Amino acid sequence: MRTNYVFIMLTLTLLSCSANQITKKIMPGEIWKDDRGLHINAHGGGILFNNGIYYWYGEHKDENSNEANVGINCYSSRDLVNWKFERVALPVVTNNDSSDITKGCIMERPKVVYNQKTKKYVLWFHLELKGKGYKAARVGLAVSDSPTGIFKYIRSYRPNAGKLPLNITDEQKNSQITVANFPKSWTPEWISAVENGLFVRRDLAGGQMSRDMTIYVDDDGKAYHIYSSEDNQTIQIAELADDYMSHTGRYVRILAGKHNEAPTILKKDGKYYLITSDCTGWTPNAARMAVADSLFGEWKELGNPCVGADSNLTFKSQGTYILKIEGKKDTYVFMADRWTPKTPIDGRYIWLPITFENGIPVLRWYNEWSAL
Ligand code: DGJ
Repeated sequence: MRTNYVFIMLTLTLLSCSANQITKKIMPGEIWKDDRGLHINAHGGGILFNNGIYYWYGEHKDENSNEANVGINCYSSRDLVNWKFERVALPVVTNNDSSDITKGCIMERPKVVYNQKTKKYVLWFHLELKGKGYKAARVGLAVSDSPTGIFKYIRSYRPNAGKLPLNITDEQKNSQITVANFPKSWTPEWISAVENGLFVRRDLAGGQMSRDMTIYVDDDGKAYHIYSSEDNQTIQIAELADDYMSHTGRYVRILAGKHNEAPTILKKDGKYYLITSDCTGWTPNAARMAVADSLFGEWKELGNPCVGADSNLTFKSQGTYILKIEGKKDTYVFMADRWTPKTPIDGRYIWLPITFENGIPVLRWYNEWSAL
């Protein structure tokens, strides 16, 4: 009788586990079940490693909508394979339609960083206001005393209002060319004007557009917001204040007019590597990489870091974060999303190891692998 019971319980446990949990391997593109047996719902995510635990924050997605109807989810794990659903760390607001984060807004690409000085967990994300498509192009901010939240929503805005980028030239700053000069976009003249700060000047008073984003904390504890700006034409890198709760107004434009989104970053041997994507909505494209000795540049383009089948499609995914494994030399996980826009909840996670060949990051496909 007892043997039967143990056997049934064991079978039930195994049935609720996914293959990766049994093998303890990361299996890109498979269904990844949480402790409840549900496919993990943390898209466009990022990871915070805190006191021996990995916290994965990501967008909750619905069966058939990309709108935020629930909020930002938080999961925890000690091995990067078995994930416990902690809670909705930043829920949408359901009783106030005028809230920035009212149900039906868009919340994307959440990233949480821990501030040593204030002992606060700071959550930044891309916010679009309800019913306005992707026009608002704001960054949102929330804060918590604990990694699992619930985070308190603070505000959303377009960063660096009234501030010019540190690397703008006098000619770009003083140019009288405006968007009104261009009845048509995408002409060579328009592209050159964009490269030369057309949208920076347009958005100077109200702040720079901020869509796909990540947050990077450097070795000296300074944090940076890296985001697709200027109608997704240019990446901007902006310094955050010491408490990570606002922008200082110091920022640069990089890869101007090069049409990048999905920024992810790593640092190795004093060099910064930025891996981004082209902008093709939910459809995958080839990743791009750039390198710099300093976050504020100069940045040099290196081309596609992916190698092998589907390398021109980032293995049918789009990057969201690079996790450096603390305590393991040169171990980095490239985290990406395989979007399924018709059934967003079904999106898969493509996590791959970053290797270094001739000192340069390379991404190859693995059906299964271990990060720890
Ligand atoms: C691609 C972005 O990377 C996603 O985060 C999302 O904004 C989609 N575009 C929307 O089309």
